[in-house]
Amino acid sequence: MASSAQMAATGAATRALSEFCSDVVMGLSHPGQKELPSKYLYDALGSALFDAICLLPEYGLSRAEMRLLERHAREVVERLPGPVVVAELGSGNGQKTRYLLEALARRQRVNYYPIDISGSALFRCQQELGHLEMVSLVGFESAYLDGLHKVAARRREGERLLVLFLGSTIGNFDRPAGEQFLRDVRATLREGDSLLLATDLEKPIPMVKLAYDDPPGVTAAFNKNILARINRELGGEFDLSQFEHVVRYDESERRIEMHLRSKAWQNVAIRKAGFRLHLRKDETIWTESSHKYDRQEVKEISGRAGFEPAGQWIDAEWPFAQTLFFAV
Ligand code: AVJ
Repeated sequence: MASSAQMAATGAATRALSEFCSDVVMGLSHPGQKELPSKYLYDALGSALFDAICLLPEYGLSRAEMRLLERHAREVVERLPGPVVVAELGSGNGQKTRYLLEALARRQRVNYYPIDISGSALFRCQQELGHLEMVSLVGFESAYLDGLHKVAARRREGERLLVLFLGSTIGNFDRPAGEQFLRDVRATLREGDSLLLATDLEKPIPMVKLAYDDPPGVTAAFNKNILARINRELGGEFDLSQFEHVVRYDESERRIEMHLRSKAWQNVAIRKAGFRLHLRKDETIWTESSHKYDRQEVKEISGRAGFEPAGQWIDAEWPFAQTLFFAV
């Protein structure tokens, strides 16, 4: 007989699969622009492909972020009255967080709570950071706000929360949704808690387009993997050779859009969903947006969401910002 822990795990996996299924059907049955939520890019293979993207010379974001954290982690930490516990929204493999945890661990024991929807990313995060001295790690495989609520409920009297939202993941939301997300984060915090928010900044369009359309085609593989995942998990029958990775920069929205463009008229079954998708030639499925910000705008948006800036650091080589805020 299955243990109750196994049954709970199976129940969670079943719920996750049926949510994936209904999100896919919903996104693909639009009469207008078809879309798939970008969070589904990150299964085990997608997360590994994203790690490969971070090694591309064209994708300057991750290196800019690492440089900033390596150079300024101590300064960030000095601005935080302690003791703090750390919650990270979308930890990924944890590499970028090491500098901050090490800086904090010089002065206190650190409880670090990575929150990620990808179990494989959490596993790698645990391998990367689980053995740091003075740091204990408890991971949450969940959506950001669910995980953050759980972390907030665990904190002890007198501990302040430091929320990390790195990688420029906020760029996946459109601007109003990003601001609303910050409000939701603020609502789980207390006055005096802090937020370190990373944002990729506007830069020359050819430079930003190349970051999402690299010559070796790693980002194309990352993008197409979302269809491969539907094939694997939902019995989809997508022929990946019939799709092309397309990157656009929308100048008025100031964002990169990734799409998958159908090379032909297609009729694709997704068996477990009992759904058939019709695509015209050149019709696209929109899979991700990456909004680019202005350094001042970051402070304004966060200000409206209930945060006050306490420091901002910008990389000179690849325009990218880390901004520290206090909840007010
Ligand atoms: C991890 C969401 C910040 O938007 O730049 C990289 C994901 N997509 N290349 C980004 C991504 C294509 C990345 N974020």
